[in-house]
Amino acid sequence: MTFTSLDVTPEIKRKIETREARLGIIGMGYVGLPLALLFSEERFAITGFDIDPHKVDTLNQGGSYIVRIPGTEVQSARENGFRATADYSRIAEMDIVLICVPTPLNEYHEPDLSFITGTVSAIAPHLRQGQLIVLESTTYPGTTEEVVVPLLEQGNPSGLRVARDASSPGFYVAFSPEREDPGNDTVARRDIPKVVGGCGPAALELASAVYATIFNRTVSVSSPAAAEMTKLLENIYRCVNIALVNELKQLCIRMGIDIFEVIGAAKTKPFGFQAFYPGPGLGGHCIPVDPFYLSWKAKQYDFHTRFIELAGEVNLDMPYFVVDQTIAALNEHEKPLKGSRVLVLGLAYKKDIDDLRESPSLTIIELLRERGAIVFYNDPYFARVGRGRHYNLNMENTPLENLGQYDAVIIVTDHSDYDYARIVTESRLVVDTRNATNGIQSSKIVRC
Ligand SMILES: NC(=O)c1ccc[n+]([C@@H]2O[C@H](COP(=O)([O-])OP(=O)(O)OC[C@H]3O[C@@H](n4cnc5c(N)ncnc54)[C@H](O)[C@@H]3O)[C@@H](O)[C@H]2O)c1
Repeated sequence: MTFTSLDVTPEIKRKIETREARLGIIGMGYVGLPLALLFSEERFAITGFDIDPHKVDTLNQGGSYIVRIPGTEVQSARENGFRATADYSRIAEMDIVLICVPTPLNEYHEPDLSFITGTVSAIAPHLRQGQLIVLESTTYPGTTEEVVVPLLEQGNPSGLRVARDASSPGFYVAFSPEREDPGNDTVARRDIPKVVGGCGPAALELASAVYATIFNRTVSVSSPAAAEMTKLLENIYRCVNIALVNELKQLCIRMGIDIFEVIGAAKTKPFGFQAFYPGPGLGGHCIPVDPFYLSWKAKQYDFHTRFIELAGEVNLDMPYFVVDQTIAALNEHEKPLKGSRVLVLGLAYKKDIDDLRESPSLTIIELLRERGAIVFYNDPYFARVGRGRHYNLNMENTPLENLGQYDAVIIVTDHSDYDYARIVTESRLVVDTRNATNGIQSSKIVRC
């Protein structure tokens, strides 16, 4: 096969500037949908690809399935040309394709790249010369060059290769990690700098030009692997520091010291300290999962990532610690856990969001049930909870009333809508894992 050498970069750059560039975003989840809406605000006509027909239908009817995204935002995007589809042949119409699919761990706690490989294999037959493909999913360093590029090169019938510079024929590939923090409204999405690493300078330049339309600052790094590692460093930093405060919390409880008071005082230091807070364990798609992508990859280099393993050990133990503290608190009330009625407040992995992936609440509920407690939950974001990858609860939301009927109420997620003073007043025993009852004086509260 022979190629004509085309200097395609200026053409896509022109299309980006004029907003004629067609953008496809694959994976209309917590990352992909907000990204699509942000580009739509910039007048790009976005095509959202997803294999979930319910999501595709909902978006095409101008609806939303993410609580913090109102349907009106989807409707405004539709006025700018936003459409959803499950039809991968439409990839051929796109100038730029951003991939935002899940990257979970498998049952052996190893990276499960099947969503990425499935997506990339589905894109490959429709690749066109000059297209830019950007992976956003969090993954181990090397994924873009070692997994994505070969699948794209092998899977496209025209024999296209990745273009390492603007004068080479082929397609462009880059990696740019997502830095979404659901429920955090303190920083506008546009103000979160976007890190980009390209397979060659042309891919870097193109990807940076696309993201510069919606982010106030882009940060170029020398390779996709450097960008992949940047994301993991950020999340490992959080994971390790949360483990540190989780461990110190356990010591402080034994020593009769309030860890939250200590953190509050320590964070008055104007340099060299960043506050992290203890809790009932890690949750979400990122912090409990991503560090293990690196520890898995490190083994290929005969390297053992001890901080990651230790942090994982401490954090994974936290739901057990909460259950032990609940047993001890019930003991003070001369009650065994077995047969006790326990209300768990909050299923989401953090406050004010509708995401329960890897939530410590799920583990806590399972542990309580295994130990014979009669467990109920309340969470305004979940009318019911069924079966997931790691749990099988089959429970329905219990109204937040008649709290005196429970032997213990455990605050696992500190949703802002809860009236904590009322909860303490009406309950017999409150186990608070989030310091949500800070400022409320009552002998009924056990903070852990
Ligand atoms: N959620 C966050 O806060 C967050 C933050 C930073 C980074 N990330 C990373 O972003 C990536 C996506 O996370 P998310 O939270 O948006 O996941 P999600 O599960 O909310 O969304 C992923 C979407 O991809 C779709 N999908 C799966 N396979 C597909 C395929 N082959 N083709 C088309 N669509 C497909 C799913 O149906 C789903 O709608 C992950 O790598 C995650 O680690 C997430």
